[in-house]
Amino acid sequence: MKALAWHGKRDVRVDTVPDPTIELPTDAIIKVTSSGLCGSDLHLYEVLGPFLDAGDILGHEPMGIVEDVGAEVTHIKAGDRVVIPFNISCGQCFMCKDKHLMSQCETTQVHEYGSGAAFLGYTKLYGQVAGGQAEYLRVPQAHFGPIKVPEGPSDDRFLFLSDVLPTAWQAVQYTDTPGQGTIAVIGLGPIGLMSARIAKHLGNRVIGIDLVPDRVARARRDGIEVFDLNDVDDVIAAVREVTGGRGPDAVIDAVGMEAHGSTGAKVAQTAAGLLPDVLARKVFTEAGIDRMEVINMATELVMRGGTISLSGVYGGAASPMNLLRLFDKQVKIRMGQANVKRWVDDIMPLLEGTADPLGVDDFASHHVPLTEAPGAYKAFQDKTDDTFKVVFRPHG
Ligand SMILES: NC(=O)c1ccc[n+]([C@@H]2O[C@H](COP(=O)([O-])OP(=O)(O)OC[C@H]3O[C@@H](n4cnc5c(N)ncnc54)[C@H](O)[C@@H]3O)[C@@H](O)[C@H]2O)c1
Ligand SMILES: [Zn+2]
Ligand SMILES: [Zn+2]
Repeated sequence: MKALAWHGKRDVRVDTVPDPTIELPTDAIIKVTSSGLCGSDLHLYEVLGPFLDAGDILGHEPMGIVEDVGAEVTHIKAGDRVVIPFNISCGQCFMCKDKHLMSQCETTQVHEYGSGAAFLGYTKLYGQVAGGQAEYLRVPQAHFGPIKVPEGPSDDRFLFLSDVLPTAWQAVQYTDTPGQGTIAVIGLGPIGLMSARIAKHLGNRVIGIDLVPDRVARARRDGIEVFDLNDVDDVIAAVREVTGGRGPDAVIDAVGMEAHGSTGAKVAQTAAGLLPDVLARKVFTEAGIDRMEVINMATELVMRGGTISLSGVYGGAASPMNLLRLFDKQVKIRMGQANVKRWVDDIMPLLEGTADPLGVDDFASHHVPLTEAPGAYKAFQDKTDDTFKVVFRPHG
């Protein structure tokens, strides 16, 4: 089959590889009909190379048709239409069942790196499992993970259940505002924009912040109050001015470790990328490589006693946070990978019927065959051609 594989920094290629097969009774094989490209994939493309091997298949936002299932997979069968969560979780352990933290599944935790649950297509840190930007995918823990979805609407109606929707839903839930608060969202990529839509849908006032013209324009079209960093000199002061001098109740950081504007950490990330992998891995896991621009902005922006909800991914072990300000302002911080299955029942009613209140049907900006994936990665990273959310169609 054809699959999109990592070969080095900013080097992904469509390779021909063996078709996946059922290896365990809890596996399923799906024919991938749609597969998303995510901001998290850009971290692999740019800075997380030390944790990848050439040939690793990327992608963690797939959906498709079940081809085959192992003996212990009973809730889906060949021919069913399914969305695959990016978390690989068992549904039965203490973390999955009692805590509803599928991203911490004790069956799939990656002990070698002290990481939480494995996830599709995402480095040695998360189990080095072959991903879903491919014609076919082996789905581990398929007795629990796959979400059966109805026939009828196009793939895009359900595809974002794999990651964007539960990630954005969790980002909003973790702000702890009951629906009448003000939430600022920093970063208006797919995760930030969907978080803004959900926060608004639940009744909050939403303020967005970004600097890419197309992303600013999209959010404005959704009726979100946007501060464009190209137009405002002091965004903290500007947001305080429209929030009674106190700042928003909560701030969602939907940017993460590769924020624009942080030169020190960019040097550290670039330097780590030049080291042999074994040394570079040490720099990542023992030192600070994150660009702290956005979390520092969130710290300043949030109301005293408010909440910062981090959905943007951070990866350094010693990244300097402003504890003085965080402590003084009595800020609460919540974060983590989305616990996909935890939120599916809450989100599904919003995907049924024709109303489409979260605007998933036209959320994707580009649908492309897998053969065009290398160019799509570049355009998504460079933010050219108004590339916002790319969906690969491996079978056309
Ligand atoms: N927690 C999870 O489970 C989870 C799941 C999916 C994605 N993520 C993470 O969420 C983040 C966003 O993902 P995405 O797909 O939306 O990616 P993206 O790269 O398309 O979006 C990031 C946005 O942040 C903006 N930005 C960059 N620097 C900024 C700054 N200094 N101030 C304001 N805006 C800035 C960019 O212009 C861009 O629009 C990534 O870090 C990704 O890894 C986390
Ligand atoms: Zn993703
Ligand atoms: Zn589990």
